[in-house]
Amino acid sequence: MSRPDAAAELISRSGKPAYVKHARLVEWVREMAALCEPDRIYWCDGSKEEYDRLCQEMIDAGSMIRLDEQKRPNSFLVRSDPADVARMEDRTFVCTEDQDDAGPNNNWVAPAEMRATLGGLFKGCMRGRTMYVIPFSMGPLGSHIAHIGVELSDSPYVVVSMRIMTRMGEKVYDVLGSDGEFVPCIHSVGMPLEAGQSDIAWPSNREHKYIVHYPETKEIWSFGSGYGGNALLGKKCFALRIASIMAKEQGWLAEHMLILGITAPTGEKKYVAAAFPSACGKTNLAMLIPPKGMDDWKVTTVGEDIAWIKPGKDGQLYAINPEAGYFGVAPGTGPETNATALGMLDADTIFTNVALTADGDVWWEGMTKTPPKELIDWQGKPWTPDCGRLAAHPNSRFTVSAERCATLDPEWDNPNGVPISAFVFGGRRNDTVPLVAEGFNWNYGVYMAATMGSETTAAATGAVGVVRRDPFAMLPFCGYHFGDYFNHWLRIGHTVSQPPRIYCVNWFQRDEQGRFIWPGFGENMRVLKWIVQRTMGAVGAQETALGWIPRFEDMDFRGMDISREQFERLTRIDAELWRKEIESHGELFEQLKSRLPREMVLKRELMKLDLWRDAA
Ligand code: OXD
Ligand code: MN
Repeated sequence: MSRPDAAAELISRSGKPAYVKHARLVEWVREMAALCEPDRIYWCDGSKEEYDRLCQEMIDAGSMIRLDEQKRPNSFLVRSDPADVARMEDRTFVCTEDQDDAGPNNNWVAPAEMRATLGGLFKGCMRGRTMYVIPFSMGPLGSHIAHIGVELSDSPYVVVSMRIMTRMGEKVYDVLGSDGEFVPCIHSVGMPLEAGQSDIAWPSNREHKYIVHYPETKEIWSFGSGYGGNALLGKKCFALRIASIMAKEQGWLAEHMLILGITAPTGEKKYVAAAFPSACGKTNLAMLIPPKGMDDWKVTTVGEDIAWIKPGKDGQLYAINPEAGYFGVAPGTGPETNATALGMLDADTIFTNVALTADGDVWWEGMTKTPPKELIDWQGKPWTPDCGRLAAHPNSRFTVSAERCATLDPEWDNPNGVPISAFVFGGRRNDTVPLVAEGFNWNYGVYMAATMGSETTAAATGAVGVVRRDPFAMLPFCGYHFGDYFNHWLRIGHTVSQPPRIYCVNWFQRDEQGRFIWPGFGENMRVLKWIVQRTMGAVGAQETALGWIPRFEDMDFRGMDISREQFERLTRIDAELWRKEIESHGELFEQLKSRLPREMVLKRELMKLDLWRDAA
């Protein structure tokens, strides 16, 4: 497509629906088409017919497999390129004019330099392909907490995934009108098809991958990967990195948090938002089934990965789940860990990189105790239990609509959000951090969240037990300098008259033999109950140097076999370990010092005084 008016011609041939009335949007699509040179432009309407047609086209092209209609109705398996299986933090960039605005927590390249690089890579990158125009709303359509994005992508897998993960399609244009705001997101798998070249099952670019955010102009550009958060740009790129910047500018919060509702036997209901680093069981907690003895309490799911939270007129913070579906890790999802999720995946699900059974169903490690005798693994190779390989990739995923979740909260789609009574922050710590602690006040809670850490696992780094500081579980997702982010959190707590209480939790303490001391999963309900009762002023606690901690008698242990000694071990605060812990916060603070709020430094000094005195 060499003639300068070729992109305009493509638009006029594209069957642009009459309901697309946004001139600036159409002009942007034209510009991007002129750059990427697709063969066609297709305007997605988000209909079921469109979804079915695109899935069928992918099946015909060999990039999707339909699962057995009886066993898994309307469900599909996709296998990615083995080199394109996860988010790539080292290929993720935040490009601000001033490097310090991106902070030491982000990879940075000057915008002009990045634009030159991407300009070269995107030139002609969609030749032989279709450019899909994907309008989507993050949050309920028209909600004052929601925001709109438009993704241009050359991947039909992205289109069908975005239809599950967001409110996608025609109705978005009603909200957008003729000049509404939207975040432009451009994505290419980075593998143009030159004349006569045939496609492959999972196109991507093995040489170049870039996931780029321009905070000053609120744009997202992603090249070379078709997987998850690299390609479904509404999720981590928009709803966290770009939204965190919008939130700072506009006075709200965009967080890596699940949202759940907890209903007491009296019918009283509270909502809790909880942040955990990736792979700490957020989906399981969001869909928790109360344990034996506690079935008079009920948990409902608003969201399992991201929360957008805005101050309400009544002085409370209100949260929505900006997503409409779940892109969850499959391995480890089983009848004991998350029966709700397992049931949700019975139909209408896209699976990526899990194993295929002989009878056209899927399997992953942890789905059943005994694996099937033979499988086709995530790379399409024959697999047997003794072959020494994993059948499903550890980051294999399911993509499914929230509507399929049996514990879905009736308010999950409420455009005004749900009022948050407590924030919970948790990492994976072998020791040091107790089962649960309540911060003395907002600033104190912000300190705990800012300094939270999580132990790395052997799979990720080769070293077990190395604590990586992951403030607010936002390390890979905060789109700006963490010092400014802490400041923003401090400020928000003081602009609302009823700030939620802040808690830290740790489900992952181990004994001398390396075994988990706390059973986790459904039993976490006991901790949630204590938290909720604290927010109702209905239960006691003891004061420690770290905050308020439950006594044995403050907890509901009906149906659980746990001794006072075991509980004390779980809630113990070891002054020696804490002195080391507080020392090590210094490393984080040193990195962030150009913008670290003074409150953080002072709080650290106060905690030192308390702990050193306790130990004396
Ligand atoms: C996710 C993540 O996929 O946090 O949600 O990595
Ligand atoms: Mn996540």
